[in-house]
Amino acid sequence: MKLLVTGGCGFIGTNFIRLMLAKHPDWSIVNLDKLTYAGNRLNLMDLEESEDRYEFVQGDICEREKVMEILSGKSIDAVVNFAAESHVDRSINDPSPFVITNVGGAQNLMECARQAKIERFVHVSTDEVYGTLGATGKFTESTPMAPNSPYSASKAGADMMARAYFETYGFPILVTRCSNNYGPYQFPEKLIPLLFLNAKADKQLPVYGDGMNVRDWIYVDDHCLGVELTLTKGREGQAYNFGGNAEEPNITVVKTLLSLLGKPESLITYVTDRPGHDKRYAMDYSLAAAELGFAPTLNFADGLKKTLDWYEANTTWLEQVQSGEYRTFMDTWYEERD
Ligand code: NAD
Ligand code: DAU
Repeated sequence: MKLLVTGGCGFIGTNFIRLMLAKHPDWSIVNLDKLTYAGNRLNLMDLEESEDRYEFVQGDICEREKVMEILSGKSIDAVVNFAAESHVDRSINDPSPFVITNVGGAQNLMECARQAKIERFVHVSTDEVYGTLGATGKFTESTPMAPNSPYSASKAGADMMARAYFETYGFPILVTRCSNNYGPYQFPEKLIPLLFLNAKADKQLPVYGDGMNVRDWIYVDDHCLGVELTLTKGREGQAYNFGGNAEEPNITVVKTLLSLLGKPESLITYVTDRPGHDKRYAMDYSLAAAELGFAPTLNFADGLKKTLDWYEANTTWLEQVQSGEYRTFMDTWYEERD
């Protein structure tokens, strides 16, 4: 199979490409990535240099001509769309790029793939489209969408477009909705790598609000497995939930990480809450379990240890992605809120 993966220089895309090329000797992958602040071509440079089945193309999913050129010119069979603006805090500062890429870009990709008669299209969405939960219950695929941030609203927009492409054109599209990923290559604006970086430098660890917001953590390889199963076995027109069975309040994540790194809890600093901050996410993935045979393979304790070990061994990577742009954004963000 020849696959077009978009956003493959980001966190999940990088892990997905590595895993799929290792697992499927008969697959080849073209990676289309715009290389925003979150995309790092060096993540996959070893493959670029040594693997015939991997090709990198720099470009934007919003560009019709470029996308058509790849889909038709490179005889693509299937598409997996990871490309997105992915950080909630950034979407609160400026929603526009989120609408442009996450809605407009996703629709452009669907339209080009429809015209090129692509056999299968997996659109990677998020649990955040469902909004927030109270103290009990889980999101199922039939939970109504109720997004609360500009990021999640843009992702919900693309999910609706995917539904419309299936209903209107019979376009062979499938959607995945996953909870919070963690693991290697995650950009250090997201909670876990940010905590690692700050703790190592004995800097304050910013905890939003009272730290009692709950996320369902999944190791990135398990999300990649869910995307792979959706691509190879899923029902067209269907959305599938994926989760890690690992609900934790943020403050527990912070304290566990400090203890694993041997750092004091005095580094914890409670800061002004994120506006519209979703209280709790939890995923019911029984549909994916029943239809695709999905089950997460790594528990949170082991996954977190593995992740911290990777960051310890790859401090050069962290330094590399910690560009001036990233630091400026974070410093301004905290200054404005506190
Ligand atoms: P990321 O921010 O690490 O990577 C996004 C990648 O997309 C980057 O390489 C970036 O350069 C690229 N990109 C952005 N705009 C583009 C455009 N217009 N054209 C081409 N490439 C573009 O994001 P991530 O955390 O790896 O998330 C990947 C996908 O998974 C996103 O769609 C996100 O909504 C979804 N998702 C993420 C999580 C999570 O916990 N990180 C959970 C569920 C779903
Ligand atoms: O649930 C899936 C989503 O998970 C994905 O769709 C998004 O792309 C991804 O960014 C992630 O969104 P979150 O907003 O949940 O992730 P983030 O790492 O930004 O925050 C995790 C939790 O930690 C959240 O409750 C906010 C809190 N937080 C975050 C940061 C960066 C803090 O308390 N302090 C921080 O400094």
